[in-house]
Amino acid sequence: MNNELENGEMSGNSQMIMIDLDIQDIEGIGPTTAKKLKEAGILSVMDLAVASTDELSVDINSSKETAASYIIAAQRLLRESHLLDKEFITADAALQKRKAMLRCATGSTALDDLLLGGIETQAVTEFYGEFGSGKSQICHTLCAIARQPVENGGLNSGVIYIDTEGTFRPERVEQIARARELDPSEILKSVAVCKVYNSSHLELIVKDLGRYIDDFKAKIVIIDSIISLHRAEFAGRGTLADRQQRLNGMLHKLIRLAEIYNIAVIITNQVQSSPDTFFGDPTKAAGGNVIGHASTYRIYLRKSGENRIAKMMDSPYHPYSDTRFTITEKGTDDLEETGKKSTSKKSTSKKDKEIEEIEE
Ligand SMILES: Nc1ncnc2c1ncn2[C@@H]1O[C@H](COP(=O)(O)OP(=O)(O)OP(=O)(O)O)[C@@H](O)[C@H]1O
Ligand SMILES: [Mg+2]
Repeated sequence: MNNELENGEMSGNSQMIMIDLDIQDIEGIGPTTAKKLKEAGILSVMDLAVASTDELSVDINSSKETAASYIIAAQRLLRESHLLDKEFITADAALQKRKAMLRCATGSTALDDLLLGGIETQAVTEFYGEFGSGKSQICHTLCAIARQPVENGGLNSGVIYIDTEGTFRPERVEQIARARELDPSEILKSVAVCKVYNSSHLELIVKDLGRYIDDFKAKIVIIDSIISLHRAEFAGRGTLADRQQRLNGMLHKLIRLAEIYNIAVIITNQVQSSPDTFFGDPTKAAGGNVIGHASTYRIYLRKSGENRIAKMMDSPYHPYSDTRFTITEKGTDDLEETGKKSTSKKSTSKKDKEIEEIEE
């Protein structure tokens, strides 16, 4: 990794400054508790600050109250060290924090426009759509672009790619890099891939993600896909509530990581048919409201002949609109004939209807 990354200049990213804080600097944590935490895989103040109460209490064999008190104390220490926002911050300070937000280009300027400039850090962006709609291709393209300097649309960073479907192909990343006249060997070295085989393994990886983000200097974490393993393993077991609870825990951890580490989290999701839909597209995102509520941005991808249509389905501030892009040897790409701008705004009433359709 280059010096710029090591100095942490590029991001206003707290993880680089964290090195000085020891877990025993936290009020109420002495050597014995530190040891227990270490055994549970919690090595840094940051790891503890993003932990979930339920999981921690099981891991260190304590009451939920004790676990919660450790997490709160870790967060307090981060606040005192100005590495985490105070409980209440003024709107102008919130705006300041948003300014530390970075954007990564997707490879298609039309898709970037839909996202108002690219994939954001401090957020969870969900791409969902049927097979072949381009979800994994977007993820592969991001691998090539993230390593690029900020002025070229990248994040000057590593990428963590969590592959739950066995569809990650390094040679595709290489092809995309070559087609974009980028250095493939440098890019391939900056992508850390983890192939995950079952839902418990995925949950474990997400639990330890803070450490991997530090290790790989990653600004993007991709999970392709977030639901396939849980969906397959919990199918027909009558344990839907259990599945949703576990997905929920994982997604909330991802949101905390996105905000605290100033990283972009990309998740892909499948669709399921919704036979009760009489108008419009009879498909909706899998996973129900749990994923919908956890994603900051939801983008629906659809095939349209050789092209793809991306629709912004949910966002706190983007206009609801759609756009067209394509997939070429360069990965995600603009359509030739329409050139760069093809984003169209939709009327709110139509959009509201679509949102109703997607909500369970
Ligand atoms: N080298 C390439 N050049 C052009 N198009 C490509 C190339 N590689 C893949 N594609 C296109 O991308 C499609 C696959 O898209 P992708 O793998 O992103 O689908 P997905 O949305 O992830 O689907 P799934 O739900 O099955 O994972 C192919 O059908 C093809 O149209
Ligand atoms: Mg895929």
